Amino acid sequence: MVKLQGKIALITGSARGLGYTMASEMVKEGATVFINDVDEQSVHEAVEQLREIGGKVDGFVADVTNKQQVLNMMGYIVDRVGRLDILVNNAGGALRTPKKLEDISEEHWDLVLDVNLKGTFLASQAAVPHMRASGGGSIINISSIGGRTASIVTGVSYAAAKAGVVGFTRRLAKEVGPDGIRVNAIAPGLVLSGDRLKETWDTMPDWEQTEVLDAIPLRRLGTNNEQAKVITFLASEESGYMTGAVLDVNGGRFMG
Ligand SMILES: NC(=O)c1ccc[n+]([C@@H]2O[C@H](COP(=O)([O-])OP(=O)(O)OC[C@H]3O[C@@H](n4cnc5c(N)ncnc54)[C@H](O)[C@@H]3O)[C@@H](O)[C@H]2O)c1
Repeated sequence: MVKLQGKIALITGSARGLGYTMASEMVKEGATVFINDVDEQSVHEAVEQLREIGGKVDGFVADVTNKQQVLNMMGYIVDRVGRLDILVNNAGGALRTPKKLEDISEEHWDLVLDVNLKGTFLASQAAVPHMRASGGGSIINISSIGGRTASIVTGVSYAAAKAGVVGFTRRLAKEVGPDGIRVNAIAPGLVLSGDRLKETWDTMPDWEQTEVLDAIPLRRLGTNNEQAKVITFLASEESGYMTGAVLDVNGGRFMG
């Protein structure tokens, strides 16, 4: 039994990393998935790879911080398939900005807040009327352990943006619950989601790796797949009575 048969999903920032794994998990569960990212080549490659495993997939290049581009993307999806059931606001990250307060420029701050938080707002605002019109939907936002507790892995701009995602999730859940739209979030711990994070981890001295792992009761980092499975659960009817929840998927490092 697949969990998302016939569902239409949009995952932002999904050409690589966690978003790509979520997309591949959702196509296996029977969903039609729209891939979004900022770079045409990577969107094209992701769509092709997912089609090779038999997925019903399409792609749209858009910057989630640009309202018009987000509206165009939503228009494209609705023109093609008539509705949207699942939105995952995944585009984000620290986006190669510095960690230390004195090194964070106004531009760094704006970039991190814009992609992680404003992008979540713009995509949700564009999706809700379509979900309302079709009787409901599921919005899943990606916070982080960095937005749940004071983690030293990332800086204050990322912490503020990802804590903002938690507030946004709960407030929107109240507003759109009566329309049958559920809004939940996950807050992942450190996941080596792609080459850049893998390289950072591999070049860390042993003592530092041990320090990170000792803080995690399960004594290991999580995998992309373990995050994607929780997303699929939140997208599916298995979580039909959950809204406004933030699931900490972090091996126990922070217990909310
Ligand atoms: N990897 C981790 O350890 C971890 C932990 C907690 C939370 N997260 C969150 O999970 C999400 C995915 O992270 P990841 O590790 O896969 O990162 P990633 O960098 O591999 O993927 C993020 C994707 O978002 C895209 N993107 C960036 N700006 C965009 C924009 N303006 N519009 C559309 N797409 C844009 C990027 O091109 C990239 O493909 C992020 O929100 C991140 O903050 C990751």
